[in-house]
This record gives sequence, C-alpha cells and structure tokens, in this order.
Amino acid sequence: MSIWKKMTQKADIQQYLQADQQFQKTMSAKELMALGIGAVIGTGIFIMPGTVAATVSGPAVILSFLLAAIVCATAAMCYAEFASSLPVAGSAYSYGNIIFGQFIGWVIGWALILEYMLAVATVSVGFSAYFSSFLRGFGIKLPQAISGAYDPSHGTYVNLVAIVVVLLIALMLSRGMSTSMKINDWMVIIKIAIIVLFVVVGCFYVKPKNWSPFLPFGWKGIQAGASTVFFAYLGFDAVSSSAPEVKNPQRNLPIGIIGTLVVATILYMAVSTVLTGMMPYTKLNVADPVSYALQFFHLNGVAGIISIGAMAGMFTMMVTMIYSSSRLVYAIGRDGLLPKFLGRVNDKHLPNHSLLVITIIIAVMGGLVDLNHLAELVNIGTLIAFAFVSIGVLPLRKRQDIPNKGFKVPLYPILPIISLLLCLYLMTTLKMITWISSLIWFAIGVVIYLVYGIRHAGQNLE
Ligand code: ALA
Repeated sequence: MSIWKKMTQKADIQQYLQADQQFQKTMSAKELMALGIGAVIGTGIFIMPGTVAATVSGPAVILSFLLAAIVCATAAMCYAEFASSLPVAGSAYSYGNIIFGQFIGWVIGWALILEYMLAVATVSVGFSAYFSSFLRGFGIKLPQAISGAYDPSHGTYVNLVAIVVVLLIALMLSRGMSTSMKINDWMVIIKIAIIVLFVVVGCFYVKPKNWSPFLPFGWKGIQAGASTVFFAYLGFDAVSSSAPEVKNPQRNLPIGIIGTLVVATILYMAVSTVLTGMMPYTKLNVADPVSYALQFFHLNGVAGIISIGAMAGMFTMMVTMIYSSSRLVYAIGRDGLLPKFLGRVNDKHLPNHSLLVITIIIAVMGGLVDLNHLAELVNIGTLIAFAFVSIGVLPLRKRQDIPNKGFKVPLYPILPIISLLLCLYLMTTLKMITWISSLIWFAIGVVIYLVYGIRHAGQNLE
C-alpha cells in the first residue's frame, strides 16, 4: 500500500467497538457529569475572575466567561454528536481516524496528549504551591530542595508534592473506576459546595458601585478576556474519552458533556459577578483573588476553607485528566500507532500499562521541569482537536454506515462551521512562542508517525 493510501486510510468503526468491548460499562450520566465537572473546574475559577478583570476586561470579565462558554458550547455540541454516534475510546483521536483517516487521527491524538499531560503537570505544580502554603498555616515548612522544579541556582531540585500527588492519583485509578469515581464524586461535591459558599458569603459584601465602569477596556477587553478564560473551560472533552465505559452512551454522553458546560458557566459567571462586586477590579491582580477578597473583609476562616476547595478542584481535575490520557494512549496503542503493550488491558479490564507510562511522564514534567512558559500550549492542543471535531461533523453526517439515534447538532451545518471559525479565531490570539513550541511538538509527532506508526498501524486490531 502506498504511503498516501495508508495515511488516509479510515479506521473501521466495528473493529473499534469490538476492541473496546473489553471495558465494563459502569458509568451513568450523573457520574459522567461529576467526571466532567471534576475536569473542568480546577484552578481557573479561583484565579481568572480576578486577574483577567484587573488586567484585561474589568468587571465585564463576567461577559468574557459567557463568550468563552459560547465558543465551548458550539464545540461541545459537536463533541456530543460524535460521542453519541461513535462511543469508542480515544475521543477526538478515534473520531479523526474514522472520519479523516489515520494521519489526521494521529495528529489529533498527538495534540490531545499534549493538552492532557501538560495540563495535569501544570496543575500538579499549582497543587503543590497551595499544599505548601496550607502546611505553612500549621507551621510546617517543606525544605527548599524539594519544593520546586530542577533549578540548582535557586536551591530547588525536585517538586516532591507534585510528584507524590500524581503518583497517588495514578495508584487510585489503577484500582478501577468505581473506587476512583466514589472519591472523585466526593471531591466534586466539596468543590462545588465551597464555590457556592463563596458566592453566598460574598453576596453580602457586594457594592454595586464596584461594577462601574463595567467596560473599562471596551469590547476588545471582553474578547481578549474570553481567549484567556477559555482555559477555565478546558476538560469537558475528557468526558467523551470514557465512552466505552458508559451505560447507554447515546443518551448519557451528550448529557455529560453539555451538562458539565452548563454547570461550569453558571458557577464561573456567579463567582465573577460576586468577586468584581466585592472589590474594585483594579485590586484583583493577585495570585489568589478569591481568598484575597475574603481576607480583605477579615473573613479569614472562609478564605482558609476556599483554599481547601481549590485543592479539591485541582485534585479532581488531575484525576479526570490522568484517567482520560491513559484511555487516549490506550486507544493509540490499540491501533498500533504507539507500541503494542500500551493498547492492552489487564485481567481486570484496565489499561494500566498506558496509565503507568503517562504517569511517569507527567510526574517527571511536573516534578522537574519549569512549566511556566509551556502552559499556553495546552490551549493550542485543545483548539486543534476542537477544530477537527467541529468540521468533522459534516462528513460524519454523510456516513451511512454510522447511524446515530442520539444527539445531533442543531442548525446543521451552520453551527459546526461557526464552531470551527471560533476555534481558528481563538488560535490567532495565542502568542508566537506558543505557535513555535507547538510546531516543534507536531514535528516530533510526524517523525514518530513516519518512523513507527505508519508501519505498525492496524496490527493490534486484526
Ligand atoms: N479547566 C481547568 C482549570 O480551570 C483546566 O483548571
């Protein structure tokens, strides 16, 4: 077969469904929403309503959150249609393989690996910072050497807390979904309760004069804010990675994906409204604006509880993203594009080989590498996947061999096209350094594909 033919060869949906039969179908719509909310509401909500208001949007950050939610909602609907038509492991990677062929599928998969792993590594570092300050509250100070990425000139060698939390989560996930989901569900409840606590307590300290001027940076400020707070919505796509483990996926996956987004939007807008009402927006450019506003009104106890909420938020985000990346790498290994052993499940039907490999990579990144300049790469990886999923709805609808009795995108074909354009627009707002770094990442991906993937593809499914 010629190289071009191989690159454009489309995966067989029946083979995928058969390969994924080894998973147990245990997850309900409620559990999916917990998984989605777990992934989406992480660090963003505790930081961005303040920092983005202060530097880019003013109190109109509330509208930035709404605008970003609209962009995500269009992509979320496209994801929901795909998830409903193709309930297979691997999310956008598998959709790309089935609809556009092997090479595009691999590019999407490679983009998602970047999104998931880098997002978890970044959040593990944030978790470590919160955890250390939490310990300091009890008079415990961690030694400098184990408190940051490898940087001997500043006396730090390893971020031990970041590594330990990633290892603990992986250990929990390696024991199966039902235990992990129970812990995750509790953490999600704690996190939402704490956010609601902030909104309710904060309401009493709102002064409407803080909302004016509402648009100090004009419409441009709302737009620029939207492309930054987009980060806060990342993760809802992870719900679709769990497709083979979902009961009645045609019904439950769309509920999980869209429901997650609705809950996140409501909470984000509520927190932004209260926070910008409590204090003049100009004062909110601090690392922990939510706690800062509470401390300003001497509500120190509530501020302490909020930092527990932030840690719970980051924890659930990592659980979901580690879970999703292990299923993604499993799917790529299953197809032979990465070494075979990654595509195997153990006797308890869990893809623990892929889990082990991604855990080691994430732990090394979070524990040893300074990720400050890499975090924006998460957005580009996501937007690439969103763009392909959006435009992919068009050929998906034309496929006679993929019947869909579940969710369909409304206003077809206008909405998927709008979604694609919005994703492309947001990509243009990213920094040059992000583009360059991502080009390097994709160049590596193409080399791996040409040297390894193209020769081994399909071997595991036969
Ligand atoms: N949406 C995730 C967060 O806000 C990445 O942490």
